[in-house]
Amino acid sequence: MDWNRYYIFSDCIDIVCIEELSHYTQINKDANLLTKSYVNLFYNCNNYTFEHICFYISITCLVQAISQFIYFSARSIFIYFAFGSKPCMSTFDPNQFKEGQRQGWNNVADGWLKWWNITETAGKSLTKRLIELAGIKQGSKILDIATGIGEPSITAAQLVGENGHVLAIDISPQMLAVAKQRSISMGLQDVMDFREGDAETINLPSSTFDAALCRFGLMFLPNVKAGLSNIHNSLVNDGIFAAAVWASPDKVPFISLPFNVLLKETNSPPPPMNAPGPFSLSDEKLLKEYINSSGFKDVTIERQDMIFNFKSAEEFTNFVCETASPVQVILSKQSEERRKKLLQAITEAAVNSNVDKNSGSISFSNEVICIVGTKQ
Ligand SMILES: C[S@@+](CC[C@H](N)C(=O)[O-])C[C@H]1O[C@@H](n2cnc3c(N)ncnc32)[C@H](O)[C@@H]1O
Repeated sequence: MDWNRYYIFSDCIDIVCIEELSHYTQINKDANLLTKSYVNLFYNCNNYTFEHICFYISITCLVQAISQFIYFSARSIFIYFAFGSKPCMSTFDPNQFKEGQRQGWNNVADGWLKWWNITETAGKSLTKRLIELAGIKQGSKILDIATGIGEPSITAAQLVGENGHVLAIDISPQMLAVAKQRSISMGLQDVMDFREGDAETINLPSSTFDAALCRFGLMFLPNVKAGLSNIHNSLVNDGIFAAAVWASPDKVPFISLPFNVLLKETNSPPPPMNAPGPFSLSDEKLLKEYINSSGFKDVTIERQDMIFNFKSAEEFTNFVCETASPVQVILSKQSEERRKKLLQAITEAAVNSNVDKNSGSISFSNEVICIVGTKQ
C-alpha cells in the first residue's frame, strides 16, 4: 500500500463525499426547520401539549442522528472498498508523508545523477539568478535547503570561496551522498558541509547565515511556515532568503504532461492542490503570504523560464521514469505489458506537444516563481 497516494486519494474521497454530505446537510436543515416550526407551534397553538412538543423534538433529533450515521457509514464503506481493510485515516499524516519523500527521493538519486546534465543545463540561469537575488559574494555564509544532489549549493560554494562556507541540507541521504561526492570531485570539501534532516525541524545555528537558498524544495514541506521560521532563525539580521518554486501545472509541461497522461490512463483523480507537491506553492498570493508572515520584509517575486531540452520524446520519457519517484510508484503497480503502454502514451503525448519535426528533438519551456525576502 502506498500511503502517500492513500492520503491524497482519501482527501479526494472527501470531495466525492461532498454530494453525500450535501444530502446529509439537507436532511439536517430540514430537521432544524422542523424543530423551529414545532417550537413556533408550541408558542402559537394552545392545542399542543408540552408532551406533544417533546415527542416531535425527539423525532427530529433521531432524524439528525440517523442522517449522520448514514453519511459516515457510507464514507467508511466507500474508503474500505477503495483501499482495502486498513483503518480509515482520512487526515493527512505529515510524518508519513516525509518518510515517503525520504524514500522516494532516495530511490531516484541515481537517476538524478544520470540526468544531471539535462537538469543543470535547464537550471543554470535560475541558479545564477537566485544567487544574485540572495546577494551572495566571496566570504558569504550560505544555507541551502533541500539541496538534492547539490544545487544551488555547489554553484554558491564556488563563488563564496575558501573564506566563505555553505551548509547544504536535505531529507534524503541518497541525494545528499551524490551531492557530497560531486562537491569533493570539484575540490569544494573545505567550503561545504552536508547534513541530513527535515527542513522544518533540523537544528540550525541561529543568526549565522548571510543568505539562504532553496531551489524546488519549499513546496514539499507539509508545514511551510515551520520550515520558513527555521530558515529565518538561522539568518543574520538583514540576511536574504531566495527560493524557487514551480508555477501552476499548465505552465510547467515537463511535469504536468507525463502526470496527466498517467492519471488519465490509470483513471486516478488529480491530487488536491493544497497537498504538498510540485505545484503546492504555485499560487503567488499564498507564497507571498507565507514569506511575509514568517518575518521577512521587502518581499519580491519574479518569474523565470526554465527550458528542458531532450534529443527525442523517448529520451524525455526515460528521464521522467528515472527522476520522478511518483511515476515509478505508479508504474511499479502495472503489469509489464501495461507499463510499456503507459510509457508509450507519455512518449506520444510528448511528440504531440512540441517535437521538432526535422530533428525529433523536444523542448519544454516551464515557468518558475522566484521569491526573495530579507530577515527583519
Ligand atoms: C526537486 S528536488 C530539488 C533538489 C535541488 N535543490 C535542485 O533544485 O535540483 C527536492 C528535494 O527536496 C528534498 N526534500 C523533500 N522534503 C524535504 C524536507 N522536509 N526537508 C528537507 N528536504 C526535503 C528532497 O529530498 C529532494 O532532494
